[in-house]
Amino acid sequence: MTLSYLVKKEAPYVYIHGSGCSKNIWIHQISEVGGYGIDLPGHGGSPDDENISSVEDYAKHVVDFIKTKIGKGYVIGHSLGGAVAQMTYLLSRDCVKGIVLVGSGARLRVLPEILWGFKNNFLSTAHKSIDFLFYKGFNEKEVIKEILDDILDCGSEICFRDFNACDKFDLLEKYKNKEIEINVPMLCIVGNKDVLTPPKYARFFGDVLGAKVEIIKDAGHMVMLEKPKEVNRVLIDFLT
Ligand code: COA
Repeated sequence: MTLSYLVKKEAPYVYIHGSGCSKNIWIHQISEVGGYGIDLPGHGGSPDDENISSVEDYAKHVVDFIKTKIGKGYVIGHSLGGAVAQMTYLLSRDCVKGIVLVGSGARLRVLPEILWGFKNNFLSTAHKSIDFLFYKGFNEKEVIKEILDDILDCGSEICFRDFNACDKFDLLEKYKNKEIEINVPMLCIVGNKDVLTPPKYARFFGDVLGAKVEIIKDAGHMVMLEKPKEVNRVLIDFLT
């Protein structure tokens, strides 16, 4: 399958969005830092693959994309996309130069009411989810509306599939007991007000794997849209 992607400046970086989103969330990074923003199957402009049910299933598509387009590069993932980035490395270490996780973690358990709501009460849950995604001080209404539109475009089935894949994703103990090691440079970026993947999840990678951890002030889960300048500065510093 050919995934839909956006590139403005060629660079060996692949950006992977999170649950119910699309490549649009990375617009500031694609424009300034460079690289490819992809749509996972069933999101944005990419066709669906009905056999997908897990992070690993998504990661197989990312491995194919990297091998076809750039050969080897950095994977940069947000939330579910961060889980996909970790799994991409674990499936195909030779195509990953480094890993950047933005608002993500080694385990991504989901509040049962969010999971239930995306399946059974989609519209209301989609609207409510916005309150968790952005820091209350962020009030660029158009940006918030674009994210809501992305979620509505994905629809109940895909959103539920994504959050369910997050809920099942759990490498925490395997990292802790060194069953899994990451032997490429790793950076974790998180908003200090992120309530979905709190800074503790990023610090875990710092403590256990020696990852570089950058905590961005006054930002929530959508830190790459809320604080693009700060995120881009940290990214450029790490990638170049
Ligand atoms: N990195 C480091 N620590 C983690 C972790 C991670 N990725 N995920 C969980 N933990 C920690 C928790 O903080 C907790 O530590 P504590 O016992 O010291 O408080 C412990 O591991 C167990 O946590 P968890 O497995 O998440 O179970 P829980 O029963 O405590 O909580 C939820 C379940 C869903 C309430 C909780 O995970 C949560 O609030 N998640 C965020 C909300 C959400 O839905 N996020 C969506 C992610 S896409």
